[in-house]
Amino acid sequence: MTRPEASEHATEDVRICGFGELVPSSARRFVVNGKPIAVVRIVDDLYAIGDTCSHAEVSLSEGTVWADECELECWKHGSAFSLRTGEPQSFPATRPVPVYAIRHDGDDVIIAMPVGDPS
Ligand code: FES
Repeated sequence: MTRPEASEHATEDVRICGFGELVPSSARRFVVNGKPIAVVRIVDDLYAIGDTCSHAEVSLSEGTVWADECELECWKHGSAFSLRTGEPQSFPATRPVPVYAIRHDGDDVIIAMPVGDPS
């Protein structure tokens, strides 16, 4: 289903898994519409950021979740990315990773994927 958001950006809702399949305080990698995404559950809150570290081509979902800080730390060199903004909070990474809108509707975990986004 494609629907326009309040802004001019259209998104497509994609169900990725059941809510109960996500282990609290851990990250899991999904590939949605060809994009690798790290999905993190902290208690009942969900976050989705680009899974590829902006410093090098490694998977952030293999890193450590810092639940209190709401960050995901890259296992390779230690940059921690905000799950809210995608911004690195520490070096060596200096560029953000994308952030995706994610929610759960009952047991369905749904990501709103941008439509026509070439990145
Ligand atoms: S590869 Fe992620 S911080 Fe270097």
